Amino acid sequence: MTAKKKPKVYLTRKLPDAVETRMRELFDADLNVDDVPRSREELLAAVQSADVLVPTVTDRIDEGLIEAAGPGLKLIACFSNGTDHIDVEAAARKGITVTNTPNVLTEDTADMTIAMILALQRRLVEGARVLTDRPGEWAGWSPTWMLGRRIWGKRIGIIGMGRIGTAVARRAKAFGISIHYHNRKRVSPATEDELEATYWDSLDQMLARVDIVSVNCPSTPATFHLLSARRLALMQPTSVIINTARGDVIDEAALIKCLREGKIAGAALDVFENEPAVNPKLVRLANENKVVLLPHMGSATIEGRIDMGDKVIINIRTFFDGHRPPNRVLPGR
Ligand code: DGY
Repeated sequence: MTAKKKPKVYLTRKLPDAVETRMRELFDADLNVDDVPRSREELLAAVQSADVLVPTVTDRIDEGLIEAAGPGLKLIACFSNGTDHIDVEAAARKGITVTNTPNVLTEDTADMTIAMILALQRRLVEGARVLTDRPGEWAGWSPTWMLGRRIWGKRIGIIGMGRIGTAVARRAKAFGISIHYHNRKRVSPATEDELEATYWDSLDQMLARVDIVSVNCPSTPATFHLLSARRLALMQPTSVIINTARGDVIDEAALIKCLREGKIAGAALDVFENEPAVNPKLVRLANENKVVLLPHMGSATIEGRIDMGDKVIINIRTFFDGHRPPNRVLPGR
């Protein structure tokens, strides 16, 4: 009896050691030990020879790339929750299955959202910089120095009440923040009761009434620039925006303008419209302590990244065992 041939799995980035070790045991794994992002040419060569592609959010797997895939490519097993970097429709047309890694980064991303609310409202980055960038300047405690904004008693407006939005709401409630949300559909009455959450069918109306806006929806054609110049103008001048989802949900140029003109009070952004490029105007605002910027760290915990890798492995194994993988992504979702 001949041993079953291991599927050829191409990883576009370096994954945690434990994940790569397991991948090497189970598959004919082509690793990226140097973690240098793969070029278009390298990806083109990979899709022509591999059975499975394991991309991350840093790879654009568009129609052209998918069309160029060889007959062997049967699965795109994303090492990511979001799949906005994959043309899922094109993959379906070519008969290629797409999977993702939901659930395992929910809590970490929700933690980061709360951390960013606190960082912005309590001036954490600014305060830390006083001690590290200008040592000796601190003259001691003062009743009127480095005053931030209280979190307790404020209203948060969560855009996208999926897994991550709901996890943000649970944490925010524990901080004494009242929960408001806008979503394609209302969450269950039990969840609304648990969170004492108010549903807003109208995003415009919610934006005008909350103190903190948290973006937790995926990037889709329908959410592109959802927070447009017109909608940003509806927010209160004391309100702030937190984005741990995707940069293009906010019209970044309009946000910068609103921040400059004092139409909103601040923003904390973990994601950007042209990632990894960050608009220099945002960097300037960060240097003036008007915004907090992070380099897409929402899910960056070792536990989370190992869990994501485990999900990728389960999806690949299930697929090659002839079953439907648990985290299949269907077109149009
Ligand atoms: C994802 O997996 O979609 C996240 O953005 C990574 O942090």
